[in-house]
Amino acid sequence: MEILLDTANIEMIKKYEAVLPLTGVTTNPSIVKKEGKVDFFAHMNTIREIIGKERSLHVQVVAKDKAGMLKDVEAILEQIDREVYLKIPASEEGLKVIKILKKEELNVTATAIYTKFQAYLAIAAGADYIAPYFNRMENLNIDAKEAMAAMANEIERSNSKTKIVAASFKNVGQVTTALDQGAQAVTVAPDIIAQALAMPSIAQAVDDFTEDWESIFGKSSTID
Ligand code: E4P
Repeated sequence: MEILLDTANIEMIKKYEAVLPLTGVTTNPSIVKKEGKVDFFAHMNTIREIIGKERSLHVQVVAKDKAGMLKDVEAILEQIDREVYLKIPASEEGLKVIKILKKEELNVTATAIYTKFQAYLAIAAGADYIAPYFNRMENLNIDAKEAMAAMANEIERSNSKTKIVAASFKNVGQVTTALDQGAQAVTVAPDIIAQALAMPSIAQAVDDFTEDWESIFGKSSTID
C-alpha cells in the first residue's frame, strides 16, 4: 500500500513524515486555502524540500478549461519541478489535458472522480493515478466500496499501470475499505491519522505492559 498525506500544512507534513511510511503529499486549492494566503510556489517548494524527490508531490491545476490548465501546468513544472504529479480533474476539459500530458510523459493524477466511468476514461488515457472521492461519493449515495473494487478490476483487466489513490475520507473505516477493495494508495488528512492512532485501547495496552514490567523490575522507562 502507498499512504499519502492530504494536506499542505508544513507542521503536519513534518510530524507525520516521521510517523508514516509516507509515499507522498497531495494538495488541491481547498487544501491550500486552509493555510491562508501563502506564497503558493514557495509553499509547494517547502513541501518538496521536506519530502524529497523520492516521494511524490501532487499539485492541482486551478483553471477549468484546457488552455488555462495547460498554462497552470507550465507554471507548476517551471516553478516546482518536472517530477510533480499534475492533478487534473477528470472533466471533459481535463481529459483533453491528460491525453496531452501523457504524450509528453509527464506525471498525471486524475482527480475529482465520482464515477466509475470517469475512472475508466482516466485509466484509458494513461493517468498514473486516479483519485476517486470516497466520502463525497457516499454523500451522493454512490456505492464507493463497490466503485473502488470495479476500478481496481478495470486496472487489472486492461493491464494498466494506473494506480488508485483513493481520496476524500472522513474516517479511517473508509480508508481501510478503499484499500481492501484494491486501492493501491490512499491519501489521508492528518486528523484522520491522529484519530485512528489515538484509539484508547492502544494507549491502554501500552500502559498495561508498562505496569506489568514495573511491578517486577521496578520503575524504568527502558529495558536496561
Ligand atoms: C485529494 O486528492 C482530494 O482532492 C481530497 O481528498 C478531497 O477531499 P475532500 O472531499 O475532503 O475535499
